[in-house]
Parts: sequence; structure tokens; C-alpha cells
Amino acid sequence: MSTARVQAGVCNVPNRTIFEGDNLDVMRGMNDGCVDLIYLDPPFNSNRDYAAPIGSEAAGAAFKDTWDLTDVDEAWHNEIAETNLPLYKVIDASQYSHGSGMKSYLIMMAVRLIEMKRILKPNGGVYLHCDPTANHYLKTLMDTIFGREMFRNEVIWSYRRWPSKGNQYQTMHDVILFYAGPGNVFNVEFEHPSESYMRRFKGKTQVLDPVSRTRKLVVDKPTKGLPLRDVWEMSILAGSSKERTGYPTQKPLKLLDRIIATSTNEGDVVLDPFCGCATTCISAERLNRRWIGIDLSPLAVKLVEQRARNELGLMGGVQAIARSDIPKRTDREPAPPLSESKVVLYGTQAGHCNGCGTHFMQQHLTVDHVIARSKGGTDHLENLQLLCAHCNSLKGDRPMEYLRARLVREYQ
Ligand SMILES: C[S@@+](CC[C@H](N)C(=O)[O-])C[C@H]1O[C@@H](n2cnc3c(N)ncnc32)[C@H](O)[C@@H]1O
Repeated sequence: MSTARVQAGVCNVPNRTIFEGDNLDVMRGMNDGCVDLIYLDPPFNSNRDYAAPIGSEAAGAAFKDTWDLTDVDEAWHNEIAETNLPLYKVIDASQYSHGSGMKSYLIMMAVRLIEMKRILKPNGGVYLHCDPTANHYLKTLMDTIFGREMFRNEVIWSYRRWPSKGNQYQTMHDVILFYAGPGNVFNVEFEHPSESYMRRFKGKTQVLDPVSRTRKLVVDKPTKGLPLRDVWEMSILAGSSKERTGYPTQKPLKLLDRIIATSTNEGDVVLDPFCGCATTCISAERLNRRWIGIDLSPLAVKLVEQRARNELGLMGGVQAIARSDIPKRTDREPAPPLSESKVVLYGTQAGHCNGCGTHFMQQHLTVDHVIARSKGGTDHLENLQLLCAHCNSLKGDRPMEYLRARLVREYQ
């Protein structure tokens, strides 16, 4: 058996790893189908510039003198248009109903959700935490990327907080979109039955009559309660809560405990690609699941280490691994030498540079990684292309979308 087969579906990131970096790069370095559950709580604030999380170059200091948000959006949008037309249409439509800010946000999310779908096991589950600002747009993305048949629930997390003034109802809920593949783990939780049920049936279980299939019978067995509904009444973290780390968008452990306990078994791998102060990681550890967290912010990584030390250290000296590199995929056959790939690519590209489109002799084209290796790209043929010297030097180790945006600007 080849190594590639042995590694297929095997997680190439050790348990208890927390990455500081862009989740897009990290996920691109992860094996296919290696994660059992993904919980994501991405940023969304319509008054904010979405530039920061998009692409590692845009998130850094190079942003101002290399490319701007419009370039990135346009380039990724074009990329999506070429590879996934329905997704392109869904994203494009959002600008007409909500404006270009939403389109920009959805492009940022779409490229990441595509990776999540790839690294999720076929029977895995994904919970996307959002709010009423974007939940309906995100659902169309999820339906298109994961498949609408994978949609299970729109969970309403209902809470109370200080009311605000205004001529509308108080907005006091978040939305969690739950998708899962066939055969997904679902350890059902029960909630207390209503008082009227308890009074009427004296706390006993009601079952469907197996003969008539319509009548209900009461059997002499204490009721387990009602299988959990999709509206969850659960408090947000109080300012005085011991759980509070000071991280602004911290979610309660109770919420993550419920999601992880329901949708995974012990030993399963849980990923949070926007992990903030690591609520998911801490919950997964407490429930004996394996976990991986990713966050752009170094502050988040520090908090994770601190929480792992303080909260989990108490539970048996657990050591988290902090990393800022990109994992290497171990589920592929060894790549052929680049010289062999060059010959194949020269044929498939019909001798044209994949950037500017000019025709060249083979010796004047160079093999380039579509997604740079430093951003999780592999040496495999599907991630290789031929570029002329000019395009190659323009692109450097940046992703292809950067080169496209530069060329559009250059030839305008
Ligand atoms: C809403 S917070 C998550 C809070 C988290 N659920 C908790 O309980 O602490 C969103 C997080 O996503 C991170 N983030 C934003 N863009 C990112 C990206 N491209 N890659 C990784 N993390 C990102 C932010 O730094 C922030 O910590």
C-alpha cells in the first residue's frame, strides 16, 4: 500500500495545535477529509472594513503598496467564476440586495468554506455561527458549497442583554447554521418536557402506537424529555463570569460543549478556523476530543496558551502546540519532478503563459505554484502552471489572484 493511501483521511496536524495565521493558508495544507467537526464563528460587522482577514498580503503591511481590496475581491471573484459558476452567481447577487461590502465579505468566506468542505470528513458536521446581518447570504453559500441536502438546522441561540432603544424588536439572538453529511454523529440531547406534559402524563413516556402508527400510547417509563429543539435559550457570558478572558467576541463554553458533545464522539477531530480565545479548543479538550485552532491574531494565540495552561493544566498538564507555519499535506502521491510537469503543462497550456497569455518557447517559461508553497500549495500538477519571467517576477510567492489583479491594472 502506498503512503498516500495510508494517509488519506488521516489528520496531518497533531492534536492540540493552535496556529497563528490566516486560516485559508493553514487549511490548504491539511489533508482531504480529515476533520470530524468544524465550528466557525467568523467576524462580521457591517461597519468594519473587511480587508483585514482577506488574504495574507492584504492583512499585512504590504497591503497599501501592492493591492487593495477591490483587486482582491475582483480576482477571487473571477477565480470562483472560472471554477464554480453557481457560487459566482450567488455571491454576485448579494451586491444588488446588500451592496458591495457584502459581496466582498462573501468572497472572503467562500474561498475558506471551499477548503472546509474539502477537509471535512464526508459524514462530518459543520456549524457556522453568524447573526441576522448575513445569515441568509451565508446560507446560500453553504447550500452551494456543501450541498443543500447537507443542511440540517438553523439553530437560534436566544439570549438576553441590556435592551437598546429603537422602533423595532430587541435583537437578541445569533444564528448557527448546521450542515452534516450522511451518517453524521448525532448524540441527541433531551430538554425538560413542558409543565403541562408532566402534569398530563405524570412524567411518563409517550410513544407512537406501533399498530395504528397514529395513536399515541403512554408507557410506564419516566420520560427522557423532548429531543432538543432548534431554539436554544442560553445566557451570554456575563461581565463577571469567571470564564471571561476579555476577548471581545468570546462565546460561552456551554454552547460549544453542546455542539461538540452532540456532533462528535471521543477522539474525534474538531477544528475552529476562527478560534478567537479558543473556546472551541477548551471545550473539545474537556470532552476528550482532539482539536485544532487557527486565528490571525497573535493575541488570540496567547490567550489560547494561557487558557490551556490555566484551565486545562488543572486537568492533567495538557500542553498546546503553538505554530505559525503551514502544515504539509501527507495524503498525496509523491509529486513528479518539476521537469516532467513542465512538459505536461506546456501541452495543456498550449505554450502560453498562464498570466499574460503570450505564446513562448518552452525554455522561456518557468514552472510556478498557483498557490505558493508558503501558503499551503502543493507540488502537484493541479497546483502548477507555466509563467513567463515577467509574470513570475510580478507574482512572486503571492497567490494567482494577486497576479491577475496586477495584470488587469497593467493592461488597463
Ligand atoms: C468572532 S471571533 C471568534 C471568537 C471565538 N468563537 C471565541 O469564542 O473566542 C473571530 C476571530 O476570527 C479571527 N480571524 C479573522 N479572520 C481570520 C482569518 N482569515 N484567519 C484566521 N482567523 C481569523 C479574528 O482574529 C477573531 O479572533
